[in-house]
Amino acid sequence: MTPAAAGRVGLVIVAAGSGERLGSADPKAFVTLNGRSLLRHALQRLHAAAHEVVVVAPAGQLERATDEAAAEGLAVTVVTGGATRSASVSAGLAALGPHDLVAVHDAARPLVEADALLRAAAAVREGADAAAPAVRINDTIKRVDGDVVEATLDRSVLRAVQTPQVFRREVLLRAHAAGGEATDDLALVERDGGKVVLVQGSHRYLKITFPDDLVLAATLEAM
Ligand code: CTP
Ligand code: MG
Repeated sequence: MTPAAAGRVGLVIVAAGSGERLGSADPKAFVTLNGRSLLRHALQRLHAAAHEVVVVAPAGQLERATDEAAAEGLAVTVVTGGATRSASVSAGLAALGPHDLVAVHDAARPLVEADALLRAAAAVREGADAAAPAVRINDTIKRVDGDVVEATLDRSVLRAVQTPQVFRREVLLRAHAAGGEATDDLALVERDGGKVVLVQGSHRYLKITFPDDLVLAATLEAM
């Protein structure tokens, strides 16, 4: 599927987090994986599926983000992020042109594939308000009170959700205009009663959170 067939897609890559849990000196998006920054990996893998790309960078790092995109031969708009992920998404949305669909991707998922964005965009074009890649959960999941187990959840009805998350533009704008904080934008649309659909994701799209994730991703990227 070509991007044109999926409707015009504007892509926001949020890269303004500090990466506290990773513990690196650099903001997480600039940490390297096999010689290239996480941001560069994400840009290289997704740009062909989008008509416009906005990168949301940490304060004081706009030029650096521009340089990372230029190193991939890409011209992107770079804006400064906010104190929370939701604030950074809002900043990115404000800088994006009026495309039918908006995709939001975390720079912290460097091994994403353009097909994931195209699958989610197709689901939105087929009638969903929002769609995102997701995977089944391999671990047994317990609900707890402190360290005491209260219940074992039925994992067959649980999914781990990834990015890029794709939205009908007006749905995401409305969700953000209403305010609210969430670790993902789907939650804002769910809260508004929107129809949210999941498409095939991959364990390769792992999010870099802790140092071990970087080691795993480096191995996967080299395969
Ligand atoms: N993000 C952002 N602006 C923020 C916080 C997060 O743009 N104020 C982005 C991050 O750059 C990342 C994505 O949101 O691409 C997911 O966030 P997370 O993995 O939590 O990254 P960090 O917030 O940087 O990490 P930590 O929570 O460990 O500090
Ligand atoms: Mg965070």
